Amino acid sequence: MKIYLKDDEIATENLNPGIKVYGEQLYQEKDLEYRMWNPYRSKLAAALLNGLTNIDLKEDYKVLYLGASTGTTISHISDIIKKGMIYGVEFSPISMKKLISLASKRENIAPILADARKPKTYLNLLENIDFLYCDVAQAKQSELFMDNMNLYLKDDCKSLFMLKARSINVSLKPKKVFKEEEKKIKEKGFKITEKVKLEPYEKDHICFLVEKSF
Ligand SMILES: C[S@@+](CC[C@H](N)C(=O)[O-])C[C@H]1O[C@@H](n2cnc3c(N)ncnc32)[C@H](O)[C@@H]1O
Repeated sequence: MKIYLKDDEIATENLNPGIKVYGEQLYQEKDLEYRMWNPYRSKLAAALLNGLTNIDLKEDYKVLYLGASTGTTISHISDIIKKGMIYGVEFSPISMKKLISLASKRENIAPILADARKPKTYLNLLENIDFLYCDVAQAKQSELFMDNMNLYLKDDCKSLFMLKARSINVSLKPKKVFKEEEKKIKEKGFKITEKVKLEPYEKDHICFLVEKSF
């Protein structure tokens, strides 16, 4: 996996040398160029710096990414899965415009303008998903995540779920929301194999690494 971790810094090998995506720093080591990965801008970088371990993203993976936004995190996954494909689902046309511009410079990103609460609407556009990533920050995020898992993820494959407590209930303590959502996910038969909080980079978020355990 093309991720470089050193102390509190993280970077990916730039698939598109010389080109920045969101103002990140580029640096050269030997013959290769790297892009610094900002954990304050990307929850995946935050989770990796906080100890997330077994994601095993392989170079030829097909990834379904829910909540693509403008493509900050997607761009680093695009660096990692060089020969694979990331299908980025986003329902905001404004974010989608920037994502399309990013995809025009990287062949392994396929933007999909759709509502992730209706997973069947993009059924015809996807094939054999190996990994699912969900970061939608909305009230029914756990249900949306599990619906997409059930429809798209092959057995024994992994997924990452970035859970934002305050989008579910602002008046409950995040710890309680995390517990309730974890229970919901386990009751539906999924297995949570790692749990990583995202502080100090993101408040009130937790990252779950989830597998189908049927
Ligand atoms: C926290 S941002 C994602 C940031 C992004 N994952 C990154 O790290 O670069 C959440 C995104 O999810 C999108 N979103 C929320 N609900 C959605 C839905 N039902 N379908 C598709 N996109 C959704 C929002 O428009 C927003 O762009």
